[in-house]
Amino acid sequence: MGKNQLNHLAIIMDGNGRWAKARKQPRVAGHYAGMNNVETIALAADKLGVKVLSLYAFSTENWARPKEEVAYLMNLPVRFFDKFMPSLMKNNVKVNIMGYLNDLPKKTYDVVQRAMRETADNTGLVLNFAFNYGARKEITSAMKELGGMIESGSITSQEITEEMISDRLMTANFGQYRDPDLLIRTSGEQRLSNFLLWQLAYSELAFSEKYWPDFNEKDLQGFVGNFAKRHRRFGKVDESDS
Ligand code: FPP
Repeated sequence: MGKNQLNHLAIIMDGNGRWAKARKQPRVAGHYAGMNNVETIALAADKLGVKVLSLYAFSTENWARPKEEVAYLMNLPVRFFDKFMPSLMKNNVKVNIMGYLNDLPKKTYDVVQRAMRETADNTGLVLNFAFNYGARKEITSAMKELGGMIESGSITSQEITEEMISDRLMTANFGQYRDPDLLIRTSGEQRLSNFLLWQLAYSELAFSEKYWPDFNEKDLQGFVGNFAKRHRRFGKVDESDS
């Protein structure tokens, strides 16, 4: 425990398409395998003491993919919660979906709202899906809100603080865990792709060569172990450091 504890883990689940291609399967087969791996990694993260797991499942830019693939991805939450809701309940997992949910197809919207409602009283791992999420849009929305407060005279521009910006992002309800401690991106790509740009300011970054469907509990344990070591090497000299 202590300050090396990994409270908020964020993952960019990349490489589903290439995983499928390597098996001569359609891209969507990779997304299905990726969906199944969400359950595996969520339970593994829970075991490691993670409090919030944020997963980038669909970005505001992903609408530009072929229509059939978008339709498949939009249906994944339906399949995921159909298949895994009993396990999520049993493991006390609380589901959160952050993103521009009003723009989702009705069926997707309904299923994610239901998942949040049904798990609202669970007190374990927060499984946070970023779905139709984009960080620049999120920050822009926060700026518009603060701009409105200036226009109405409730604050001056000089009164804006970092805290006020954090409070208007989609992670605000995670309180002290709002910013990820560690971000992992799979599949060898090293980009943020518009994920949690503000919140990742001080996060450790780690990259796995594995495609998301192949990224397993052991891989996660390795990254979490490295995270602890990195902090021992570069950690502050105050507080409980000895
Ligand atoms: C990136 O791989 C992955 C996605 C765009 C989709 C991620 C979604 C899941 C893993 C399932 C999410 C589950 C739920 C419940 C919503 P890619 O398609 O960009 O792969 P590529 O880079 O190899 O083409």
